Amino acid sequence: MFPNVNYIGNKKKIVDWLINLIPDDVVSVIDGFSGGGSVAYSLKLAGYRVIANDMLYSSYELNKAFVENDDIILSYTHLENANKYQASANVEKRLSFLSQQLYFPDEVEELASLVSYAEDCLQGYEYSIYLSLLRRAMVRKLPYSRMNINWDNIIKLRDEEYSYEKYGRRRAYHNQSFIDHMYSAIDEYNMSVFKGKKTATVEQMDIFDLIAKYPSADLLYMDPPYPGTMNNYDAFYGPFDDMFNKHIKHTDLTKSDNFMKYMEGVFDVASKKYKYAMISLNNSIKPSFSEFVTMIAKYGNVEIFEKKHNYQVSGSKTKEKNLELVALVTFN
Ligand SMILES: C[S@@+](CC[C@H](N)C(=O)[O-])C[C@H]1O[C@@H](n2cnc3c(N)ncnc32)[C@H](O)[C@@H]1O
Repeated sequence: MFPNVNYIGNKKKIVDWLINLIPDDVVSVIDGFSGGGSVAYSLKLAGYRVIANDMLYSSYELNKAFVENDDIILSYTHLENANKYQASANVEKRLSFLSQQLYFPDEVEELASLVSYAEDCLQGYEYSIYLSLLRRAMVRKLPYSRMNINWDNIIKLRDEEYSYEKYGRRRAYHNQSFIDHMYSAIDEYNMSVFKGKKTATVEQMDIFDLIAKYPSADLLYMDPPYPGTMNNYDAFYGPFDDMFNKHIKHTDLTKSDNFMKYMEGVFDVASKKYKYAMISLNNSIKPSFSEFVTMIAKYGNVEIFEKKHNYQVSGSKTKEKNLELVALVTFN
């Protein structure tokens, strides 16, 4: 089972449906915008040869931990040792930008010890699982589960009395320590590790560099950050990448002015050597859904699949309807 990684826009609920739409002659799949990794993980589970990519370092480590890694798990001993570890002065300095921006000073101290431990004592997939646990802990401690909330708001929303009065929920988990959050997910994370039938590869690249490096494969799957949706992933999770100096330059696909031009650029390259592209769509994107479909239809035969999923909003009877759309392009 794919672990809970708390990733905005993840496709966890619909991966089985998505994977069933893949044509029978596909062996290798590139997930160009893999995010939290739910699709790449399920592709591995379904026996495909997977290349999982995202421009974010946090996604890279998640993909290393669960998509590329076939058998390594993280021992509890590491969490016990990390909890007592002395932070290095370098790491403290590197993380100081988080203080009173995202976390209280004593929490940044805890974070510095945990990061120092990882850098001094862990490597390979153990390091990747540990960093993935740390990433989740950081997100769980933040209101709205993202890193672009303003500090005054964070202070307000982390006040359990205020939260209870205003929203009827204390959200005490925001005030638990990082290490406690790591303990609470380590079993689930370790149990998610499994051996795939084929080898997987993980990259942290801009989409254009990725398709230049892998000019041919059977299927290119894309779930890009569509304008008109909650799409600023750099702002949501980029501070994690900054903690490790791993931010990379990337094409900004979040603006509606040039989104279409960039995606056309991707299709230009992919249509030459790939058999198929599969792209998750959304009805509220800008430019519009129909404009986008007209663009991709230049490259081949397009089939659109849709799936409704209803889910209950907790505490009320409202049902939210959400239409999942995916286009399968068979290149000419
Ligand atoms: C909608 S999310 C993908 C969610 C994913 N399908 C899942 O299940 O978690 C879009 C992803 O595109 C990544 N991204 C944005 N611009 C990119 C670029 N130029 N190159 C590569 N990845 C990019 C973001 O970091 C984000 O993780």
